[in-house]
Amino acid sequence: MKTIAVIGLKGGSSKSTTALHLAVSAEAAGLSVAVIDSDPQGSAYKWFERREAETPSIIREIDGDAFARLKGIAQKNGTDLLIVDTAGKAETTALAACEVADLVLVPIRPTQFDLETLSTVKRTVRIAERIDRTWVMLAQVPTGSNARRMVEEGEAAIQAYGLQLAPVRIATRAAFAYAMSQGLTATEFEPSGKAADEAEAVYRWISGLVDQTAKTTSELVDA
Ligand SMILES: Nc1ncnc2c1ncn2[C@@H]1O[C@H](COP(=O)(O)OP(=O)(O)OP(=O)(O)O)[C@@H](O)[C@H]1O
Ligand SMILES: [Mg+2]
Repeated sequence: MKTIAVIGLKGGSSKSTTALHLAVSAEAAGLSVAVIDSDPQGSAYKWFERREAETPSIIREIDGDAFARLKGIAQKNGTDLLIVDTAGKAETTALAACEVADLVLVPIRPTQFDLETLSTVKRTVRIAERIDRTWVMLAQVPTGSNARRMVEEGEAAIQAYGLQLAPVRIATRAAFAYAMSQGLTATEFEPSGKAADEAEAVYRWISGLVDQTAKTTSELVDA
């Protein structure tokens, strides 16, 4: 089983949207997936309540101290992928999520106010000893005329913080928001749309990284 923590210290940065898209794409690829919703607002859990499908499993747990135990249970239950969705501005929970994670994903909007929270994100992943397994992904990238400049500045800021930049990103697209409001993902709501393409690209990239982590781990075990 692999565990991905989706964190960020700014609210509304697409953490839950990203976590749920990853979960549904992984299920579509045949994996058994569970999501821990650690946000007291329960966005992921409420999304599931709006959902007709009975998967992915969503576990509500706001206490970061319980993550390791839940991870053990998920593993025993045959879960292949565990995703921990966290609240913004919840440093302690984010730290606990990172500590149980094989990979940490940080979706972030390419705006000054959001990017400057990366110093706290960096401190959190450093404390959890996950800095080498942390990737920052631009999210809610505008599609208008200034988009290119915002992407370039956002990418430069991420690298200036000494954090790894994800080679994929998601734009601001109505399909993401509509899908969430209906208990769906963009890949289900509008499979041939641009939002679905972006979500699939994020999943393909993440699953490649997970495979790489698995290899590195088995090499370490074999050595
Ligand atoms: N790429 C996108 N395009 C359009 N709308 C988006 C996109 N990503 C997220 N949204 C919308 O923006 C809002 C915030 O997204 P989301 O809930 O995923 O962020 P979050 O980081 O989990 O927020 P919080 O910090 O409150 O947990 C939601 O209403 C969601 O539907
Ligand atoms: Mg959220």
